[in-house]
Amino acid sequence: MLVHAIPGNVNYDFAADVRDGLTRRGQKELPSKYLYDDVGSALFEVISHLPEYGLTRADERLLRRNAHEIVDRVAGPAAVVELGAGSGRKTRWLLEAFCRRQQTSYYPVEISRSALVMCERELSDIDAISIVGFEREYLDGLLEVAAYRKPGQHLFVLFLGSTIGNFDRVAGVKFLSQVRNILQPEDSLLLGTDLEKSRSDLLRAYDDELGVTAAFNLNLLARINRELGADFHLPHFKHVAKINEEARSVEMHLRSKRHQVVSIPQAESVVEFEDGETIWTESSHKYSLNEICDTARQAGFRCQVQWVDEQWPFAENLLVAE
Ligand code: TRP
Repeated sequence: MLVHAIPGNVNYDFAADVRDGLTRRGQKELPSKYLYDDVGSALFEVISHLPEYGLTRADERLLRRNAHEIVDRVAGPAAVVELGAGSGRKTRWLLEAFCRRQQTSYYPVEISRSALVMCERELSDIDAISIVGFEREYLDGLLEVAAYRKPGQHLFVLFLGSTIGNFDRVAGVKFLSQVRNILQPEDSLLLGTDLEKSRSDLLRAYDDELGVTAAFNLNLLARINRELGADFHLPHFKHVAKINEEARSVEMHLRSKRHQVVSIPQAESVVEFEDGETIWTESSHKYSLNEICDTARQAGFRCQVQWVDEQWPFAENLLVAE
């Protein structure tokens, strides 16, 4: 076992993104990647254990039950790259199956350093694994890993947990095409996708009884207070999940409970909120099985196998680069 990390060179500007998102005309918006600081990553870990949020457990069940079949279908020898590794818990099953076949290099790509540390700690006991973590945005990390590729080696990319759903459909195809362009023919991508389900199941999953999802969403304002010296008063905002029927998504917003003015010194902004006005923080698009294969084809992949969970409509899709 070998573990080391390629340290941070995450290339984003929190203050500029906050300023752009909150001072634009029309719908205010904050990029969802900023939900995942240390507190946010820990809260998301809790969300993944909530009874109402079946997504992560479905993902994990599918990986555990089908790990050997997945590994058998992936062209080897292969290095495993995971985009947005999170805690690494659900990846264990796949990596154990890979390591039984051959010594395996695992490259988690994560913008959250604490998630990267958690993931390395979680997986470092697996025999015959070497782990090199990249504190990078997805495509930057993947490009770097691809540059390390040994002759004859395939890449097997994991994009699990339905993160693809956080892009709108057009941006989803674009992102998968960008991934495809970094890959070579016969490399593969395992894509997790949350499937369409009832309104009530969706609303419960994104607005749980305990208020953990609300805390996760509100933490974004707390983070702006911590890092940019802002004076958001959290009780004056409310977490809201709403269904967008047309986009087939759940949208997460933070709604201002009154007319108020917030200053964000380090973003050089003063922001006015109307009573009821919202900041849009995330959307989670839900897919049908056929649509995933169409999307994959448009991005230059063929859809090889789809595994569907029996308890929570969720699919693991094995896509092969054409
Ligand atoms: N991206 C995950 C999802 O779409 C994360 C998530 C769960 C999330 N609950 C949330 C993001 C609430 C923002 C707000 O399921």
